[in-house]
Amino acid sequence: MFIGEKKIARPFRWGIVGGGRTSGVGYKHRLGAMRDNTSFVLKAAAFDLDFARCVDFGKNLNMDEERLYPDYKTMFAEEAKREDGIEAVDIATPNFQHFEVCKAALEAGLHVICEKPLFFKVEEGEEIKKLAEEKGKIVCVTYGFSGFDLLSQMRSMVLNGDIGEVTMVDLRYAHGFACDPTGDKQAEGQKWRVDPAKSGPSFVLGDLSTHTFYMSELICPQLKLKQLLCDRQSFIKSRAPLEDNAYVLMRYENGAVGRMWASAVNAGDMSSQHIRIVGTKASLEWNDMHPDELYYEVQGQPRQTLVRAMDYLNPEALEYERLGALHYTGLIESWSNLYTRFAIAMDAKNRGDEETLKNLVYPDLEHGIDGIRWVTKCVESADKGGVWVDFK
Ligand SMILES: NC(=O)c1ccc[n+]([C@@H]2O[C@H](COP(=O)([O-])OP(=O)(O)OC[C@H]3O[C@@H](n4cnc5c(N)ncnc54)[C@H](O)[C@@H]3O)[C@@H](O)[C@H]2O)c1
Repeated sequence: MFIGEKKIARPFRWGIVGGGRTSGVGYKHRLGAMRDNTSFVLKAAAFDLDFARCVDFGKNLNMDEERLYPDYKTMFAEEAKREDGIEAVDIATPNFQHFEVCKAALEAGLHVICEKPLFFKVEEGEEIKKLAEEKGKIVCVTYGFSGFDLLSQMRSMVLNGDIGEVTMVDLRYAHGFACDPTGDKQAEGQKWRVDPAKSGPSFVLGDLSTHTFYMSELICPQLKLKQLLCDRQSFIKSRAPLEDNAYVLMRYENGAVGRMWASAVNAGDMSSQHIRIVGTKASLEWNDMHPDELYYEVQGQPRQTLVRAMDYLNPEALEYERLGALHYTGLIESWSNLYTRFAIAMDAKNRGDEETLKNLVYPDLEHGIDGIRWVTKCVESADKGGVWVDFK
């Protein structure tokens, strides 16, 4: 059981770009990063495009006013002059700014935690990879659902062969929150999502399915995606060419197959992600509305429900377990687990501890690049009329 004690010598001094008062995701970052006070402490911020709102918000959070900045460039320059300047930065801006801020952060000698979808082009990912290697820095990606304990259980059961050989991967991130198009013109957090210049080449493929695709990589690391076929629709016509619904078929190198449904117009559905992994002997099924329960279905036997924190789980599912059985967890524990691992990765990188880095399971730059490739290939397939395309 993990009760928030330190896993690294001291917390990283940490800053954030975006994620201000009106942002959809900022509070999740702060809760995840500072849950334990042993991984990160928030010291500086360029929270907002609106500087007055940034200052007001930062003061409200009891931050030092002189470390609230009008933009990321000023923050990186000013923080670099301080002995107690930030060592890591979080990028929680709309998608189109991720690349430029990430590049500037690495050039300023900072470790980076960046939102998904990481960038627009695989080439940008490769450029950042080269720069991160040169600078000896870590780039992590906030696939924020991927820190749930029972996903670690799924991974270990798949790797231990408990379900046999994986044959089918069934993925879904399909909600109904964008059924009403009025938000496309009015809501700050929705306007940019349906603007290709700011969102990138996709809407739901990048915004939603990159999460679930990463989670399939996490659970089934042995599967390598070979080909995919995507069909995408803009049910709200004004969103074209960006899709608000997409179906993807997948073929893996070992003969396994898969499918993904990504949607923001699945009217009435408040749940989000469903993952079913089918093997030759048994299946595993999980969804994020009930993250403390994992269904284990062995062919010919009654369904078993595995519950978080119970002793019968594998050690991987208990390593970051925080609350004990009987007390249920949620998205914040998932984010906190991720942020703890981000801090461990950064600390290991600083110490040159390659062994720790090799064994640590977290969404890293390679996974972020895979997410970009996923979106790129889905869009390519759909725009060619729904044809099979090679993944790599
Ligand atoms: N990991 C997750 O679960 C998750 C959830 C929601 C959003 N996201 C991602 O987070 C990012 C932000 O999404 P959101 O929903 O919070 O968007 P949002 O529009 O609600 O908020 C964006 C915030 O960034 C600020 N901002 C924009 N440009 C800036 C700049 N150059 N410098 C400083 N601040 C700037 C805005 O003022 C605003 O406060 C997107 O990349 C999105 O895909 C991830």
